[in-house]
Amino acid sequence: MEERKIMLNDAEIPRQWYNALADLPGPVNPPLHPGTGQPIRPEDMQAIFPMNLVEQEMSPERWISIPEEVLDKYLLWRPTPLRRAINFEKALGCPVRIYYKDESVSPPGSHKPNTAVAQAYYNKAYGIRRLATETGAGQWGSALAMACRMFGLDCRVYMVRVSYDQKPYRRMMMQTWGAECIPSPSDRTQAGRNILAQSPDSPGSLGIAISEAIEDAVTGKDSRYSLGSVLNHVLMHQTIIGLEAKRQFEKIGKYPDVVIGCAGGGSNFAGVSLPFVQDKIHGRKIHIIASEPTSCPTLTKGPFAYDFGDVAKTTPLLAMHTLGHDFIPAPIHAGGLRYHGMAPIVSHMLEKNIIEARAYHQLDTFEAGVLWARTEGFIPAPETTHAIAAVVDEARRAKEEGREKVILFNYSGHGLVDLASYDAYFSGKLSAYELPDEEIHRALRAIESHPKCIGR
Ligand SMILES: Cc1ncc(COP(=O)(O)O)c(C=O)c1O
Repeated sequence: MEERKIMLNDAEIPRQWYNALADLPGPVNPPLHPGTGQPIRPEDMQAIFPMNLVEQEMSPERWISIPEEVLDKYLLWRPTPLRRAINFEKALGCPVRIYYKDESVSPPGSHKPNTAVAQAYYNKAYGIRRLATETGAGQWGSALAMACRMFGLDCRVYMVRVSYDQKPYRRMMMQTWGAECIPSPSDRTQAGRNILAQSPDSPGSLGIAISEAIEDAVTGKDSRYSLGSVLNHVLMHQTIIGLEAKRQFEKIGKYPDVVIGCAGGGSNFAGVSLPFVQDKIHGRKIHIIASEPTSCPTLTKGPFAYDFGDVAKTTPLLAMHTLGHDFIPAPIHAGGLRYHGMAPIVSHMLEKNIIEARAYHQLDTFEAGVLWARTEGFIPAPETTHAIAAVVDEARRAKEEGREKVILFNYSGHGLVDLASYDAYFSGKLSAYELPDEEIHRALRAIESHPKCIGR
């Protein structure tokens, strides 16, 4: 019988993260100081992040050792299984083998703790006592809440208002791990008060919550900010996903033709794909696809430009695909995919044609997610259903082409705390929302008013 769960034992866990900056065809545009317009210096970032993480962010080293203390925590749920989705394959009736890396087995239920644990460790090692962060769907906030508890740090999470109201269980998880969770925009920060003065009923956005968390971190004592996606070091921590997957494929003597991940800020997509990108750069044929919502089409419709990561323009300028730092996405249920920007590394790979990007309507993604639940049993997070919709497309394409394919995708999280979104889908409350062109044009004007466009 063929293996359905390809496991690694504890001793086989990778001991280094992969830093794709060492291999990507360059140059990758550096972050710029918003005041000077010059590439940012490490010391410019030290009020926001501890220096050990700033060094990692800028490191040219290809491999970075994972500290023993971090491995010790990873081993609570890692290595994660590589599973084969035989029942889903049968339902599709296409000539494909579908494997998925099951990141839903972590305590909070997603890939986010891979970097949360690392970031909490490095902050603690640097003498920091409290971390402030933002969260969309609550996956990141709950992951950081757990990681802070593991390393004895206090944790304050600004949660996008619409998700705070839609997803009370994630707030309860954060509280269980000892974090404070505040709906954003809030009156705790100047950034939040400014937004509330303009629109008291603001549903919030990740861009607003980031401004609040950064302001909180830089005005507090012994506190720093922590980001759950987008930055180089975050993507690097997530490469443990793809590195494990490669070892698991070696065990069964296979290699994927297609690698797929959903993309919000880009971290789980990069985590599963970058170790394969390394092979692609060295000549291996492999198709790598990022899947995003049509309501927040950062990669498929946003220009490649220097833009801020937040509304209050407190972050460095990042070279990325962006819908504009003041973009407020529609309150779709895949809260973790509602971010205006995209990781510079992922954006760069799109510019270099190393990866492809696709956008899906939420009706299509929920249809794929429900088929998944009815065949494989597990209920995926709304974000993850975007990856599954791309898998369905790729499987059908394989049938049309008459080719057998091995597909790998990242199962970034389970949906057990997101059942309200399934309820909305079943009761016909969801629409196939697509961001109107006027919104894209508005975003473009906002970007053009500041920095330079660097692509296209
Ligand atoms: C389950 C899940 N998948 C995907 C994402 C998207 O984030 P990223 O693109 O950084 O992986 C999130 C973000 O919250 C998430 O919770």
